[in-house]
Amino acid sequence: MEMDPKDLRRALGCFATGVTVVTGLGAEGEKLGVTASSFNSVSLDPPLVLFSLNRRAHSMPHFLDSGHFAVNVLREGQEELSNRFATPLADKWDGIDYEIWDFGCPILTGALAVFECQTQYTYDGGDHVIFVGAVERMRADPEGHPLLFYGGRYQSLEKARA
Ligand SMILES: Cc1cc2nc3c(=O)[nH]c(=O)nc-3n(C[C@H](O)[C@H](O)[C@H](O)COP(=O)(O)O)c2cc1C
Repeated sequence: MEMDPKDLRRALGCFATGVTVVTGLGAEGEKLGVTASSFNSVSLDPPLVLFSLNRRAHSMPHFLDSGHFAVNVLREGQEELSNRFATPLADKWDGIDYEIWDFGCPILTGALAVFECQTQYTYDGGDHVIFVGAVERMRADPEGHPLLFYGGRYQSLEKARA
Protein backbone atom coordinates (compact mmCIF):
# COMPACT_ATOMS: atom_id res chain seq x y z
CA MET A 1 0.00 0.00 0.00
CA GLU A 2 1.28 3.47 -0.96
CA MET A 3 1.53 5.50 2.24
CA ASP A 4 1.63 9.27 2.34
CA PRO A 5 3.82 10.21 5.35
CA LYS A 6 1.40 13.04 6.19
CA ASP A 7 -1.52 10.58 6.35
CA LEU A 8 0.56 8.17 8.43
CA ARG A 9 1.45 10.97 10.87
CA ARG A 10 -2.22 12.01 11.10
CA ALA A 11 -3.34 8.42 11.73
CA LEU A 12 -0.66 7.90 14.39
CA GLY A 13 -1.84 11.15 16.00
CA CYS A 14 -5.10 9.36 16.88
CA PHE A 15 -3.15 7.55 19.57
CA ALA A 16 -3.07 9.75 22.70
CA THR A 17 0.18 9.64 24.67
CA GLY A 18 1.82 11.35 27.57
CA VAL A 19 4.96 13.43 27.09
CA THR A 20 8.36 12.63 28.62
CA VAL A 21 11.82 14.13 28.66
CA VAL A 22 14.40 11.34 28.45
CA THR A 23 17.64 12.44 30.09
CA GLY A 24 21.14 11.02 30.37
CA LEU A 25 24.79 11.77 31.00
CA GLY A 26 27.26 11.85 28.11
CA ALA A 27 30.83 10.48 28.31
CA GLU A 28 32.25 13.98 28.75
CA GLY A 29 29.84 14.88 31.53
CA GLU A 30 27.36 16.67 29.26
CA LYS A 31 23.70 16.52 30.23
CA LEU A 32 21.37 14.95 27.64
CA GLY A 33 17.65 15.65 27.31
CA VAL A 34 15.15 14.85 24.58
CA THR A 35 11.36 15.20 24.52
CA ALA A 36 9.84 11.82 23.67
CA SER A 37 6.25 10.61 23.46
CA SER A 38 7.38 7.12 22.43
CA PHE A 39 7.76 5.98 26.05
CA ASN A 40 5.96 2.76 26.95
CA SER A 41 5.91 0.08 29.60
CA VAL A 42 7.24 -3.30 28.47
CA SER A 43 7.33 -5.67 31.45
CA LEU A 44 6.52 -5.61 35.17
CA ASP A 45 8.71 -8.58 36.10
CA PRO A 46 11.43 -7.77 35.34
CA PRO A 47 10.58 -4.03 35.25
CA LEU A 48 11.34 -2.86 31.69
CA VAL A 49 10.36 0.28 29.78
CA LEU A 50 11.18 1.60 26.30
CA PHE A 51 11.44 4.73 24.22
CA SER A 52 12.51 5.22 20.61
CA LEU A 53 14.96 7.87 19.45
CA ASN A 54 15.31 9.26 15.95
CA ARG A 55 18.65 8.25 14.41
CA ARG A 56 19.18 11.90 13.45
CA ALA A 57 18.90 13.17 17.04
CA HIS A 58 22.11 14.92 18.10
CA SER A 59 22.04 13.03 21.38
CA MET A 60 21.81 9.58 19.70
CA PRO A 61 25.54 8.61 19.96
CA HIS A 62 25.62 9.79 23.57
CA PHE A 63 22.56 7.76 24.60
CA LEU A 64 24.06 4.71 22.84
CA ASP A 65 27.34 5.15 24.76
CA SER A 66 25.96 6.08 28.14
CA GLY A 67 24.35 2.85 29.32
CA HIS A 68 21.69 4.64 31.37
CA PHE A 69 18.72 6.92 30.82
CA ALA A 70 15.97 8.46 32.90
CA VAL A 71 12.39 8.93 31.71
CA ASN A 72 10.78 12.06 33.21
CA VAL A 73 6.99 12.02 32.71
CA LEU A 74 5.75 15.61 32.33
CA ARG A 75 2.75 16.97 34.17
CA GLU A 76 0.00 19.30 32.98
CA GLY A 77 1.42 22.81 32.47
CA GLN A 78 4.93 21.67 31.50
CA GLU A 79 4.54 22.40 27.77
CA GLU A 80 7.47 24.85 27.92
CA LEU A 81 9.78 22.12 29.21
CA SER A 82 8.58 19.83 26.44
CA ASN A 83 9.24 22.49 23.78
CA ARG A 84 12.66 23.29 25.25
CA PHE A 85 13.84 19.66 25.07
CA ALA A 86 12.33 19.20 21.59
CA THR A 87 14.65 21.91 20.21
CA PRO A 88 18.32 21.21 19.40
CA LEU A 89 19.61 24.11 21.53
CA ALA A 90 23.24 24.58 22.56
CA ASP A 91 22.24 24.61 26.21
CA LYS A 92 18.85 23.10 26.85
CA TRP A 93 19.65 22.97 30.55
CA ASP A 94 20.00 26.70 31.24
CA GLY A 95 17.83 27.52 34.26
CA ILE A 96 16.33 24.03 34.55
CA ASP A 97 15.94 22.55 38.06
CA TYR A 98 17.20 19.00 38.39
CA GLU A 99 18.71 16.56 40.83
CA ILE A 100 21.06 13.60 40.35
CA TRP A 101 20.28 10.07 41.52
CA ASP A 102 22.42 6.96 41.05
CA PHE A 103 23.66 7.01 37.45
CA GLY A 104 24.20 10.72 36.78
CA CYS A 105 21.06 11.24 34.69
CA PRO A 106 19.52 14.65 35.45
CA ILE A 107 16.12 14.13 37.13
CA LEU A 108 13.65 16.97 36.45
CA THR A 109 12.49 18.31 39.81
CA GLY A 110 8.82 18.81 38.93
CA ALA A 111 8.21 15.65 36.89
CA LEU A 112 5.02 13.67 37.50
CA ALA A 113 6.95 10.38 37.50
CA VAL A 114 10.57 9.38 36.92
CA PHE A 115 12.10 6.04 35.92
CA GLU A 116 15.90 5.79 36.05
CA CYS A 117 17.03 2.89 33.91
CA GLN A 118 20.01 0.86 32.85
CA THR A 119 19.95 0.33 29.08
CA GLN A 120 19.28 -3.39 28.66
CA TYR A 121 18.76 -3.74 24.89
CA THR A 122 18.76 -1.54 21.79
CA TYR A 123 16.87 -2.59 18.65
CA ASP A 124 16.74 -1.37 15.09
CA GLY A 125 13.50 0.55 14.66
CA GLY A 126 13.80 1.86 11.09
CA ASP A 127 14.65 5.55 11.28
CA HIS A 128 14.59 5.21 15.10
CA VAL A 129 16.50 3.10 17.63
CA ILE A 130 14.41 1.43 20.33
CA PHE A 131 15.98 1.63 23.80
CA VAL A 132 14.75 -0.87 26.39
CA GLY A 133 15.77 -0.09 29.96
CA ALA A 134 15.62 -1.97 33.25
CA VAL A 135 14.08 0.33 35.87
CA GLU A 136 16.55 0.76 38.75
CA ARG A 137 14.82 3.54 40.68
CA MET A 138 11.58 5.49 40.39
CA ARG A 139 9.39 8.19 41.90
CA ALA A 140 5.77 9.06 41.10
CA ASP A 141 2.99 11.46 42.08
CA PRO A 142 -0.07 9.43 41.03
CA GLU A 143 -2.45 12.20 42.24
CA GLY A 144 -1.01 14.67 39.69
CA HIS A 145 -2.28 15.19 36.13
CA PRO A 146 -0.19 14.29 33.07
CA LEU A 147 0.56 16.48 30.06
CA LEU A 148 -1.05 14.77 27.04
CA PHE A 149 -0.16 14.82 23.34
CA TYR A 150 -2.89 14.02 20.86
CA GLY A 151 -3.69 15.02 17.29
CA GLY A 152 -0.33 16.80 17.03
CA ARG A 153 -1.17 19.11 19.97
CA TYR A 154 -0.72 19.29 23.72
CA GLN A 155 -3.89 18.43 25.61
CA SER A 156 -4.92 18.19 29.22
CA LEU A 157 -7.34 15.81 30.91
CA GLU A 158 -9.57 18.81 31.67
CA LYS A 159 -9.67 19.90 28.00
CA ALA A 160 -10.17 16.32 26.84
CA ARG A 161 -13.22 15.99 29.16
CA ALA A 162 -14.73 19.34 28.09
C1 LIG B 1 5.57 16.00 21.93
C2 LIG B 1 6.85 15.56 21.26
C3 LIG B 1 7.19 14.22 21.24
C4 LIG B 1 8.38 13.78 20.65
N1 LIG B 1 8.69 12.46 20.69
C5 LIG B 1 9.86 12.02 20.16
C6 LIG B 1 10.23 10.64 20.26
O1 LIG B 1 9.51 9.81 20.83
N2 LIG B 1 11.43 10.26 19.71
C7 LIG B 1 12.26 11.16 19.09
O2 LIG B 1 13.32 10.75 18.60
N3 LIG B 1 11.93 12.47 18.97
C8 LIG B 1 10.77 12.92 19.51
N4 LIG B 1 10.44 14.25 19.45
C9 LIG B 1 11.38 15.18 18.79
C10 LIG B 1 12.64 15.45 19.64
O3 LIG B 1 12.31 15.90 20.94
C11 LIG B 1 13.54 16.51 18.95
O4 LIG B 1 13.89 16.05 17.67
C12 LIG B 1 14.81 16.86 19.75
O5 LIG B 1 15.32 18.05 19.23
C13 LIG B 1 15.91 15.85 19.67
O6 LIG B 1 16.98 16.36 20.46
P1 LIG B 1 18.51 16.32 20.03
O7 LIG B 1 18.57 16.45 18.53
O8 LIG B 1 19.13 17.46 20.76
O9 LIG B 1 19.04 15.00 20.52
C14 LIG B 1 9.25 14.70 20.04
C15 LIG B 1 8.91 16.08 20.06
C16 LIG B 1 7.73 16.50 20.66
C17 LIG B 1 7.39 17.97 20.68
